[in-house]
Amino acid sequence: MGDTNRILITGALGQIGSELTLKLREKFGKENVIVTDVREPKAAQDGPFDKLDVLNLDEMQRLVKEHEVDTVYHLAALLSATGEQKPDLAWRINIVGLLNVLNTARDLKLTRVFHPSSIAAFGPETPRVLTPQETILKPRTMYGVTKVAGELLDNYYYEKFGVDVRGARLPGIISNVTPPGGGTTDYAVEIFYEAIKQKRYTCFLSEDTVLPMMYMPDCLKAFITLMDADLSRLSHHGDYNLAALSFNPRELAAEIRKHIPEFAVKYEPDYRQAIADSWPQSIDDSASRREWGWRPDYDLPSMVEDMLRVLGERHERGDL
Ligand code: SER
Repeated sequence: MGDTNRILITGALGQIGSELTLKLREKFGKENVIVTDVREPKAAQDGPFDKLDVLNLDEMQRLVKEHEVDTVYHLAALLSATGEQKPDLAWRINIVGLLNVLNTARDLKLTRVFHPSSIAAFGPETPRVLTPQETILKPRTMYGVTKVAGELLDNYYYEKFGVDVRGARLPGIISNVTPPGGGTTDYAVEIFYEAIKQKRYTCFLSEDTVLPMMYMPDCLKAFITLMDADLSRLSHHGDYNLAALSFNPRELAAEIRKHIPEFAVKYEPDYRQAIADSWPQSIDDSASRREWGWRPDYDLPSMVEDMLRVLGERHERGDL
């Protein structure tokens, strides 16, 4: 396996991609990280940017050749709530887009691919507490269907063609740079912005909806640690369970109130409640811990403190 030196990120202007770009540019040099997205960037880019629709295989392969890419982080996807509004589009972007990446990896002999899965791969029949690594995968959302199919494609391309594709089932990711879009766990990000700006928030999930979550620094650490892991130690490919935090909106609001005592939350569950109710509350990630040394750094109090510090500073600068 060669060393990673030229990376292309799809969907790189999204919630995770925008921060992963900075982290990978620190590690590998900014010229070695090619940012791509179907959208044009709003701000000037500090390194290579190319417009790429992941449904366009020819353009994907042209960019991989032009930039001599050896590693792809494939982040372009529709999330769960948008996927329920636009199921055909979710299938195309999440599955045809993935096939284009996997075929590119096979045909152009890429060293490694990162492709995240999600807690949305699970469904109502899955054990909801400490969900095991090997368990029932019968999701009820189109997003979840694409995640299960994606995990199976990842395994298939590894077994059949030797494509070294890696990924984990991400929980809700909480961050303070680029907002998420179209997810069921997005409340756990919005709540911070509204706590700082308005001191009140109307939550679209009920107050006792427990979901697995993770702070962005831990998410980036997971990506990089898994991609650096020794292949011979990995018994899974695109489907590692991953855990950090589990809480409900009431517990999160109470933790925020330790810093902003007047913060008020109302609960008005909408169609996303049914999606959340079909997902686990907590995840058993012992395979990740054992095989590639996974360990999160943030608990609920330290995540909340850091989120409020960073967003508070942005608010003072008039940047929120
Ligand atoms: N954050 C995602 C969503 O809510 C879960 O993978 O759709």
